[in-house]
Amino acid sequence: MHWYEDDGLWVGFADVMFPARRVAEAARLVAESPLLRTDPGARVLDLACGPGFHVVPLARAGADVTGVDLSTAMLDRAAKACAEAGVTARLVRADMLHHVEPDTYDLVVNMYTSFGYFTDPGDNLAVLRNAHDSLVPGGKLVLDMMGKEIFAGWVGRPQAVDVEGGTAFLRDTVLDDWTRVRTDWTLVRGDEVRRASIVSALYSAAELRALFETAGFGEVEVYGDFDLSPYDNHARRLIVRGTRVG
Ligand SMILES: C[S@@+](CC[C@H](N)C(=O)[O-])C[C@H]1O[C@@H](n2cnc3c(N)ncnc32)[C@H](O)[C@@H]1O
Repeated sequence: MHWYEDDGLWVGFADVMFPARRVAEAARLVAESPLLRTDPGARVLDLACGPGFHVVPLARAGADVTGVDLSTAMLDRAAKACAEAGVTARLVRADMLHHVEPDTYDLVVNMYTSFGYFTDPGDNLAVLRNAHDSLVPGGKLVLDMMGKEIFAGWVGRPQAVDVEGGTAFLRDTVLDDWTRVRTDWTLVRGDEVRRASIVSALYSAAELRALFETAGFGEVEVYGDFDLSPYDNHARRLIVRGTRVG
């Protein structure tokens, strides 16, 4: 089994990856970011939607939203979040390596470092190609992740994150000439100790831009936050937007 197929990882470390404060943060981004603005009825795909943090506000804003994720547990959480918010969305269990719905979406989003999970670089490119082919001409892919340049500023220091009833410890190890990173997670809660490792690709802005272009995207833009600020030394995220031009 690949690490990303382990539901236990996403559920076990949910307090770290999906803290409640992210619900309000996602709602704010959808309300305020020009990158996430949609026309009423626009068709939007949230690729690797997790517990639906962005699905809910996008649907509330009037978009026709599909959330795709490989984790049944995450999709259950997304369905519950939609029901509680009184919105509807189509939720689909699928692997982003293979999921394509040709000529369907006005906007595809891939949020919170949900990209670069495959060991073969060609598979990560395939995810971009799938997203490209799932867009209508003129449609856009917005991909938000931790960029290599930002990551290099703090990698090496182990982090401790308080979670309900315990602490999660994260340690990063850069691999393969800065092309990949392994993050080892240890969650300590009373007598319970849970461990997991994530290995994902690291991209600089130039590398991710080039990957978008190889996947067929045009008008590729790079930002450092959802307010369209530049990807410079103050950037908090690496956000790349590409347009399906043909
Ligand atoms: C870091 S979480 C981010 C979730 C969500 N985008 C957010 O903003 O909270 C990554 C998500 O990717 C999903 N995932 C991992 N591998 C996947 C794959 N091959 N295909 C589809 N989803 C996948 C996980 O189940 C998890 O929900």
